[in-house]
Amino acid sequence: MTEKSYGGNNGVREHTSGKPIKIKDNSNNINAKKLKSSEKPINTEKINKSNSKLNEIESYKKAGEISIKIKEFARQLIKPNMLLVDIAQKIEEEIIKQGAQPAFPVNLSIDDVAAHYHPTLEDETKATGLLKVDIGVHINGFIADSAISIDLTPEKKHTDLIKASEEALENALSILHKNPTMSEIGETIQKTISKKGFSPVINLSGHGLGEYDIHAGVIIPNNANNNPYKLEPGAYAIEPFATYGEGKVMDGPPSNIYKIINPRTPRSPAARAILEYIWEKNETLPFSLRELQEKFGNISRLAIKELEQNNIIHNYPQLIEISHKPVSQAEHTFIKTPDNKIIITTK
Ligand code: CO
Repeated sequence: MTEKSYGGNNGVREHTSGKPIKIKDNSNNINAKKLKSSEKPINTEKINKSNSKLNEIESYKKAGEISIKIKEFARQLIKPNMLLVDIAQKIEEEIIKQGAQPAFPVNLSIDDVAAHYHPTLEDETKATGLLKVDIGVHINGFIADSAISIDLTPEKKHTDLIKASEEALENALSILHKNPTMSEIGETIQKTISKKGFSPVINLSGHGLGEYDIHAGVIIPNNANNNPYKLEPGAYAIEPFATYGEGKVMDGPPSNIYKIINPRTPRSPAARAILEYIWEKNETLPFSLRELQEKFGNISRLAIKELEQNNIIHNYPQLIEISHKPVSQAEHTFIKTPDNKIIITTK
């Protein structure tokens, strides 16, 4: 899952140059720790997390292995004109069946929607055109973030565009052992895509991954940006986007994807029940209106509205290519271990 660079504080969180995240060596301590206890909604202490014997790196690897299976599952599953909501439900069910949890609602974004589309329960949108399937899987809060693009046009007219983002990703991954700067990673992506006659989407980026945190620390650019910073040990996603268009996205309509930003107790019992459910399930990881509709029914929309109006949750806007041209995406997660080994977890 990606994030648009807003060129400043977007009111939700600060990003760009922040501190890198560290992988703790041999750590069995994987308790939830994102917010101070006084900030948590009531009755929402996590219980089972510290029971796991898996350490952090093993959790990342396990999430990655499951992510690989889910991508294969998605490739088999998705056929032209299938309802997006059916795809979303089946992919998320499969993640759980494999023993993991969704790290965010699967993004099913078509054509000029670069990212952040997720259907509601009543959405009748069908899979067509150039479909990006961006899948998040987590084990104990440790995330595998990975995406594929599927060409659903009868004449397969987006083959080259899809190859461009895939090759940009491969080329970027292939230089990691040389300890490149952020700018060098971005330059590799940009050159690969430009050489094929397309544009990288330069205000979308890869990113650090933290425990129960889909966008932690650094961003990894999709173009040369003079950032001399090098990657420290931690977990990261690289995600090139390629387009026939100008290569920038703008905020579009609201998506049905949200995250908790300010877990205060809301007034209505329904909003409170929903907030507690989400917090217990995945803390500040993104969630969808769809999963709430399945669990809580019709009250979900109103409750979400209340939570949003009270600045307790944030909506992710859909990200649309500014010239309304189709966009392809490829994404892998990797970890850089404390002894500087690169492990690509989703490949
Ligand atoms: Co991502």
